[in-house]
Amino acid sequence: MKSAAVQPAINVEEIRAQFPILKELVHGKPLVYFDNAATSQKPRRVIKAESAYYATINANVHRGVHTLSTKATEAQEAAREIIRKHINAKHAHEVIFTSGTTASMNLAAFSLGQLLLKPGDEVLISEMEHHANIVPWQMACERHGAKLKVIPVTDSGELALGSSDHLIDQFSDRTRILTISHVSNTLGTINPVKELIAEAKKRGIITVVDGAQAIAHLDIDVQDLSCDLYAFSGHKAYGPTGTGVLYGREELLERMPPWQGGGEMIDVVTFEKTTYAKLPFKFEAGTPHIAGIIGLGEAFRWMEDYDFAFAKASAERGKSAFAAHEHMLLEHATKELLAIDGLRIIGTAKEKVGVISFVIDGVHHYDLGTLLDQQGIAVRTGHHCTQPLMERFGVSGTTRASFACFNTIAEVDALVAGVKKAVKMLR
Ligand SMILES: Cc1ncc(COP(=O)(O)O)c(C=O)c1O
Repeated sequence: MKSAAVQPAINVEEIRAQFPILKELVHGKPLVYFDNAATSQKPRRVIKAESAYYATINANVHRGVHTLSTKATEAQEAAREIIRKHINAKHAHEVIFTSGTTASMNLAAFSLGQLLLKPGDEVLISEMEHHANIVPWQMACERHGAKLKVIPVTDSGELALGSSDHLIDQFSDRTRILTISHVSNTLGTINPVKELIAEAKKRGIITVVDGAQAIAHLDIDVQDLSCDLYAFSGHKAYGPTGTGVLYGREELLERMPPWQGGGEMIDVVTFEKTTYAKLPFKFEAGTPHIAGIIGLGEAFRWMEDYDFAFAKASAERGKSAFAAHEHMLLEHATKELLAIDGLRIIGTAKEKVGVISFVIDGVHHYDLGTLLDQQGIAVRTGHHCTQPLMERFGVSGTTRASFACFNTIAEVDALVAGVKKAVKMLR
């Protein structure tokens, strides 16, 4: 199908050439990878950085006086610094390495629960949260006798924030923590987190942001957002799996108790009492995923080079250049998919990243995903770890295509043609 879309603002072919996996065939067809919200593909620089660690400087960090240990430590701490700079944290020790958003949220919920929650207190989340931003808080509430309260979602997939003179009617004088996704993994909705945080702060409420789906698409500035904690996964931002970050405001992190105990996180251990290490090590028990962290640092360097370097020329709506490109793909996909009889998009918010979830009358998402895979097209099907949101929209699951900087209009056209073909076979 001929596309009327505008010229991409970034050089997609130059970017594609850096992703070795895009040369793979799936069922004999060129891979079309539209499952970036689950995990993004990795540029060669990231793969190389990770394997170079094992090949040349493999040693444990912060523990040895020998050369390799020093080099490994320096490489890991350089990654912390590049991430600090990218998200504009004030201090490198406000960047805590975890294994992903799930681990970051479990740390936050456990530690903030211990610090803040008393019986009858409330933790406020939203109906569009990923299970990783529901279950850890539910567990914390159970431990401390607190209640989980939920901001509902409108039919278009936006937060229902209440009457206009009260940005959030759901706040009460027992609300202690607001924890909310920056971007919904299922709907693509970009939530007005800055405004929500400002409202929460007026009431002395601690704010936590699940940035898993924002980090690769929005220009994140934690000081501008003024959040207390911000969590994300490295593997959704062109970095290795098993890596993630919990950013925390220094003064709050100082007050928060550690989540896991063990080596690295201690100052002095006796059988009577243990004192804890300084930030960030207080929250980094055990040997970290050193190779992954070094790869993650390289992913952020890569994004700085290829995304934000282009951003000056092409930035739209205050986002990165990648986001502008992905938004162009989103608009094209939305228009073309909506022309298919019986297709309904779940998530039609005004502000969205390049995520499109849909259902089709008489077609099960699992069958559709399987048939698309036969054509080399990778999409995600199911509840996307947002079961309460599926219930809200009265569906058992959706088919979700999620775009990255290396996707093209021709690939979106292949998806649309693939969906049409599958619908003919399934109806
Ligand atoms: C919004 C959101 N939060 C949390 C997570 C959990 O991330 P991870 O599995 O990397 O820990 C995901 C993963 O899809 C997500 O999309």
